[in-house]
Amino acid sequence: MDILVTGGAGFLGSYICQRLLELGHKVTAIDMASGEKIEHLMSDRKFTFIQDSVCDLSLMEHQMKNKEVLFHLAAIADPLKYVTNPLNVMEVDLLAAINTFKLAAENRTKIAFSSTSEVFGRNPDIPWKETDDRVLGATSVNRWCYSSSKAACEHFLFALHKQEKLPFIIYRFFNVYGPKLDDLGHGRVIPIFLKQFLHQEEVTVHGDGKQTRTFIYVDDAVDAVVRLAFCKKAENEVFNIGTDDECNMHQLAKTIKKVGGFKSKIKFVDYQQVFGKGFEDIPRRIPDTSKVSKFIKWKAKVSLEEGLRRTIDYYKKKKGL
Ligand SMILES: NC(=O)c1ccc[n+]([C@@H]2O[C@H](COP(=O)([O-])OP(=O)(O)OC[C@H]3O[C@@H](n4cnc5c(N)ncnc54)[C@H](O)[C@@H]3O)[C@@H](O)[C@H]2O)c1
Repeated sequence: MDILVTGGAGFLGSYICQRLLELGHKVTAIDMASGEKIEHLMSDRKFTFIQDSVCDLSLMEHQMKNKEVLFHLAAIADPLKYVTNPLNVMEVDLLAAINTFKLAAENRTKIAFSSTSEVFGRNPDIPWKETDDRVLGATSVNRWCYSSSKAACEHFLFALHKQEKLPFIIYRFFNVYGPKLDDLGHGRVIPIFLKQFLHQEEVTVHGDGKQTRTFIYVDDAVDAVVRLAFCKKAENEVFNIGTDDECNMHQLAKTIKKVGGFKSKIKFVDYQQVFGKGFEDIPRRIPDTSKVSKFIKWKAKVSLEEGLRRTIDYYKKKKGL
C-alpha cells in the first residue's frame, strides 16, 4: 500500500514507518523535525522523507494524492507546550489536523489518527473505557487545549464517517515510552528523569509524586497500532492503547534509579514552579484495554522494568556511557 505518515520522524512515527516498511508498504513521512530518528530508514527505496510542516496546505494536498492510508501523528505533544504555547498546539493539533482530514476525505484515504488518554481529562472513574465521559476544566485553563484539540479531531472523524463514509481508526495512547522518546531532559517524564539521573542531579518529582500513570513500551504499542490499522473489523472504532500496570511518579523515579544503578536523590517540586499558574494535573490515568485485546487478541508483553532497562541502555549508549 501507499501510505502517508505525518509526524513520521517523531518517536512513535519512526517506529511505525519502520514497521510499515518491514511489511512491504511504500511510506512517505512528513515531519518538521530532522530525520535523526529515521536515519536508518533513509536508504530504503520504498521510503521518502519530506522535512516540512503539515500546516502547508498545498504540500499536504500534493502528498495526499493516491495514498491509501494516512497515519496522522504530527502534533505538539509536549505537556509544557500546552501552557507555554497553546496557540501552536491548536494550530497543529487541531487546525492542521482537520485540514489534513479534509484532504484525506477528498482522496478517500483511510485515516489512522493518534489521539490521547488526555481526552478523558480528569474523569475520576477509572479504569476508562473508550466510551467513558470526558471530564475537563474550564477553557480559560490552557492545559486542556491539547485534550480538546484531539477530542475535536475525533469528533471530526466520526462526522466524516457518518456523513461521507470515510473509514478511520482512533488510537488513544497512554504514555508510550522507549528508546528515542524525546531528547534527554525534554518532553515527557521518563527523558526528564533520565537526564537528571545521568547528570547526577537531584531528580524532581512534581507535587507529592502520588499521581499515577501507566506506561506501555513502544514495541507493544506499535504492534497494536499496525495490526489495528489493517483490521477491517476495527474500522471506525476508538481504542485505548496502554497497560493497566499503575505506577505513581515517585515509584517511577525509584524504579529508574534501581534499574539504571543511579545515585541521584529524589526530591518533590511544586507544579506551579514548573508549569506556572493554572496547571492542573490528572491524579490517576488508567485505561481499560479489554477492547483492543478482544479485537486483535493483543496484550502488552514488555514489563515496565524491562522496558526501562532497554530505554536507559539506549540513552546511556547515546551519551557514550
Ligand atoms: N507517546 C505517547 O505516549 C503519546 C501519548 C498520547 C498521544 N500521543 C500522540 O501520538 C502522536 C505521536 O507522538 P510521539 O510520542 O511520537 O511524539 P513526537 O513529538 O515524537 O512526535 C510528533 C511529531 O510531530 C512533528 N510535528 C510537530 N508539528 C509539526 C508540523 N507542523 N508539521 C509536521 N510535523 C510536525 C514533530 O516534529 C514530531 O516529530 C502525537 O499525535 C501525540 O499527540 C503520543
